Amino acid sequence: MTQNKSFQQGNASTRLMTAQSVVQLLHAVGIKTFMAQLVENLTADFLSWNSFDKSARVANHSSLGVIELMPVANGTDYSFKYVNGHPKNTAVGLPTVMAFGVLANVASGQPRLISELTLATALRTAAMSALVACKLARPNSRVMAIIGNGAQSEFQALAFYWHMGIRHLRLYDIDSRATDKLIDNLQRSQLVPDMTYSRCANTLEAVQGAHIVTTITADKTNATIITADMLSAGMHINAVGGDCPGKTELASEVLLNSTVFVEYEPQTRLEGDLQQMPSDFWVTEFWQVLNGSARGRTSDQEITVFDSVGFALEDYSVLRLIEKQARAHQIGQAIALVPTLVNPKNLFGLLEAVAEQSVEIDSSGLKSRNAQPQ
Ligand SMILES: NC(=O)c1ccc[n+]([C@@H]2O[C@H](COP(=O)([O-])OP(=O)(O)OC[C@H]3O[C@@H](n4cnc5c(N)ncnc54)[C@H](O)[C@@H]3O)[C@@H](O)[C@H]2O)c1
Repeated sequence: MTQNKSFQQGNASTRLMTAQSVVQLLHAVGIKTFMAQLVENLTADFLSWNSFDKSARVANHSSLGVIELMPVANGTDYSFKYVNGHPKNTAVGLPTVMAFGVLANVASGQPRLISELTLATALRTAAMSALVACKLARPNSRVMAIIGNGAQSEFQALAFYWHMGIRHLRLYDIDSRATDKLIDNLQRSQLVPDMTYSRCANTLEAVQGAHIVTTITADKTNATIITADMLSAGMHINAVGGDCPGKTELASEVLLNSTVFVEYEPQTRLEGDLQQMPSDFWVTEFWQVLNGSARGRTSDQEITVFDSVGFALEDYSVLRLIEKQARAHQIGQAIALVPTLVNPKNLFGLLEAVAEQSVEIDSSGLKSRNAQPQ
């Protein structure tokens, strides 16, 4: 690319982590180590709760799904995630959930990292679920039911195997091929060698004898996947799939019979299973359990619910881990997302630099004859 006084190539300052780069990173770090470091980051960030500027996410709804923006900031870092939720997407060959995110400097606003977050969302959601379960479920929990065996499910299984000691999965999905895929993936991965599996005919069968129940289904409806008759004393419910207005998984009686924990209450009241309950229905924000200022489980008989909707802070936790490990392993691509200008007031001069690249436009879009790859 031609340089001139306005645009300097080679001073690219944003790291691009594509899906392929993140896979490369996970191979370099090891998924078990990455998950453990993610749990550490989540713990540190939720313990620093009051240092973050928080808000419920901004959601744009359509009849088929939702697209959301999730920002959070502290004194030094700002991050946001773009994420969708379209339960019918898999029928047309797209994931239900797709995401990317940005990490930027608060002091200057400069974006340091732009990263895929589809894979990273599955990892951070699972790590968060396991962290919460470590505090709320009975410590001797070994059997988990997973209702909904789609894209997120393997990651939940891994996190609960490594961090909670889960050794048996009771599985149900309305699509039995999803369950086959889950078992096949976990067995071939060799990451959970002594995990055993029960394929179940329905949710009621799956929750029998389960110490922990993870619901991670995708359907844009007020579903009642778990009803009060399915509860057993001491159960912990990790309710992940109900994360949008009009999209729930638990019958309201389940919440009435449980102690409910949430990430960020203002967001969960709008989006979680909690949306069914009156505004004075009591919930506890998880960070308070983590720092000891609120009680978690109080007896072996108590039923606990984590009404997970996914909070921006969790995306910050995974973005800063990706940044740290990408730097350590020199993975990713430096891109000039933002131009480096010799005179930052001379943005107009950038047009001159681009003109010198002899750009031609054809029917397929913008095509540059002599521009060099970054
Ligand atoms: N809370 C969070 O932080 C968070 C993060 C990521 C995804 N999610 C949510 O988790 C859900 C699952 O995401 P995914 O990426 O795995 O989606 P996916 O479409 O890949 O998988 C969902 C699975 O649920 C199954 N299912 C649908 N209705 C069911 C029912 N009634 N009983 C049993 N199984 C049923 C489908 O057959 C499918 O296999 C979505 O609703 C998504 O929005 C939440």
